[in-house]
Amino acid sequence: MTENSLNENQGIEAVSWNRKHLLDIDDFSTSEFDLVMKTADVMKDVLSRPIKKVPALRGKTIGTLFYEPSTRTRSSFELAAKNLSADVVNLAASSSSIAKGENLIDTVHTLEAVGVDVLIMRHPIAGASHLAARYAKSSIINAGDGAHAHPTQALLDMYTILKHKPCIQGLKIVILGDSRHSRVARSNIWGFTAMGASVTLCGPRSLLPVGLTGQHAVYSNIKLETDISLALDGADVVMALRMQKERQSAGLIPDIREYVAQFRLTSERLAAARPDVVVMHPGPVNEDIEISSEVASGPHSVINEQVSNGLAVRMAVLYLITGGNKE
Ligand code: CP
Repeated sequence: MTENSLNENQGIEAVSWNRKHLLDIDDFSTSEFDLVMKTADVMKDVLSRPIKKVPALRGKTIGTLFYEPSTRTRSSFELAAKNLSADVVNLAASSSSIAKGENLIDTVHTLEAVGVDVLIMRHPIAGASHLAARYAKSSIINAGDGAHAHPTQALLDMYTILKHKPCIQGLKIVILGDSRHSRVARSNIWGFTAMGASVTLCGPRSLLPVGLTGQHAVYSNIKLETDISLALDGADVVMALRMQKERQSAGLIPDIREYVAQFRLTSERLAAARPDVVVMHPGPVNEDIEISSEVASGPHSVINEQVSNGLAVRMAVLYLITGGNKE
């Protein structure tokens, strides 16, 4: 591998990624997952060098358009684009003409008029990135739309698991907490079950999603469980979720102390999982609400690794979506 090319015998299969947009991973094939994982490995190698920069996206302009706060996703996408030598323009809704009333489609067209090729977008409304993609000439990457989807988070979570387990097939993965309002849970369920894991969603009934199981369910291999000790029994991976207070209607959690008493991931509870259990959290963490600080910083935790891997995975996504693997 030379610093000037990612196209020379990198272990990236010569398959083209025929996606213009990345809106969710619900229609990913297993070979597409593999391609992203392998490409992320190449990017991880780039990130291990003294100069973490390759010219793969030289001449491209990447825009970030965030209508909601973000630390991890936005900073890692920005760094990913810069590491690939793209130009970057960052737009926060609060400090742009959106605050003067400019609508989403006009904002997308305005960014395209200044040369944006790929637009990374976070929005509080589910489906907003699909709407943008319908009108966009540029590629849209969904960086989180309401409670609907967060595809690059799911890809980096899968990538992180694969750094600790030989494969995802056959794993028991527990997603703990507010899965009803979680776009991370929704995208991860697609990825984990597509790769052959069984997924248990655990939490109070009011925070578990409706319509995921049963006759008309679109997902398969999913179980809902309100008893945390049954859920954690024999788990290979436990992912605690942030309490999505900004998306909850009133009354779903009568008392946060009650939730903490019954569902916080503690060392005692984690003892029911497998000895080599991997503990994850997409962040940001509400310390000592959904997970104890002892578990969050303990030997099973890969929370910081998830953030680091996010950079490699987002470099891979940008590289693939701009046709980086096509000669
Ligand atoms: N996991 C995640 O999306 O974090 P940010 O909100 O900080 O981007």
